[in-house]
Amino acid sequence: MKRVIVNGALGKMGSEVIKAVSREPDMQVVAGVDPAISTMSRNSYEGLDFYSELEEAVNAANPDVVVDFTVPSAVMDNIRLCMDKGVRMVVGTTGITAEQVDALKAIVNRDDWAVLIAPNFAIGALLMMRFAQEAAKYFANVEIIEYHHRQKKDAPSGTAIKTAEMINQVFNGIQPDAPEHGEILAGARGAKSGGVHIHSLRLPGYVAHQEVIFSSPGQLLTIKHDSTHRESFMPGVILAIRKIDTLTGVIYGLEQLLW
Ligand SMILES: NC(=O)c1ccc[n+]([C@@H]2O[C@H](COP(=O)([O-])OP(=O)(O)OC[C@H]3O[C@@H](n4cnc5c(N)ncnc54)[C@H](O)[C@@H]3O)[C@@H](O)[C@H]2O)c1
Repeated sequence: MKRVIVNGALGKMGSEVIKAVSREPDMQVVAGVDPAISTMSRNSYEGLDFYSELEEAVNAANPDVVVDFTVPSAVMDNIRLCMDKGVRMVVGTTGITAEQVDALKAIVNRDDWAVLIAPNFAIGALLMMRFAQEAAKYFANVEIIEYHHRQKKDAPSGTAIKTAEMINQVFNGIQPDAPEHGEILAGARGAKSGGVHIHSLRLPGYVAHQEVIFSSPGQLLTIKHDSTHRESFMPGVILAIRKIDTLTGVIYGLEQLLW
């Protein structure tokens, strides 16, 4: 039975992970961690041992895996802590930059440890990124629009950044904006990753959605994915928990386990 700690356990994703792990026969949640628990003044919540500090939970609960869905400002410290303790990790928290992933790879100093960092655990989103990379070979213009709920703490989304990186790996050249398309209001053309424009919408009612729009003269191709419920991420999270002890080092992207 694989012993799992859920970090960020009171959050939207963390609480979904607790439910998903609890449904599996070969794994169990042994503790939840969330600083918000201290304001609730209890150390057990819905029958689960709860901690406000990850280190305390790791010392007490002897986990095989820590699953992290917390905040961009905390996640790197959480990864370093788990590396020091030799506890493997599945990280869904977004806002981790490519430079941080490279820096992490450089400091991993043990071969009995692994962290899988996945900006998106939904299979449909991974396929969207894969199809977008394929389409990028044939089009000279592309822009990304991503839509998320209002509470999301990072922009653009990790999925949008990763999609742009994958497009940039194969892209033959982006048509520059015509000079007359200069911004009248700053930010009107969105953020840029290697020349790919990314537009981030934050509105109540959305969960996680993305469109990748390609164009060439006379045609448009739109590749779109919608996560309408956080359940969409759970099969990917469960797969990662199941496979993490067969991996070593820093693995970026769930697709590394899929194809
Ligand atoms: N990879 C994916 O497929 C995927 C999908 C959806 C969301 N996300 C990402 O997951 C993260 C969490 O999203 P959410 O919607 O659940 O957010 P949320 O705000 O609902 O939950 C975050 C939780 O983390 C807790 N927290 C804050 N600091 C902490 C710390 N230092 N240690 C432990 N817990 C801490 C908060 O109290 C909160 O309960 C975000 O970065 C989001 O972008 C990833």
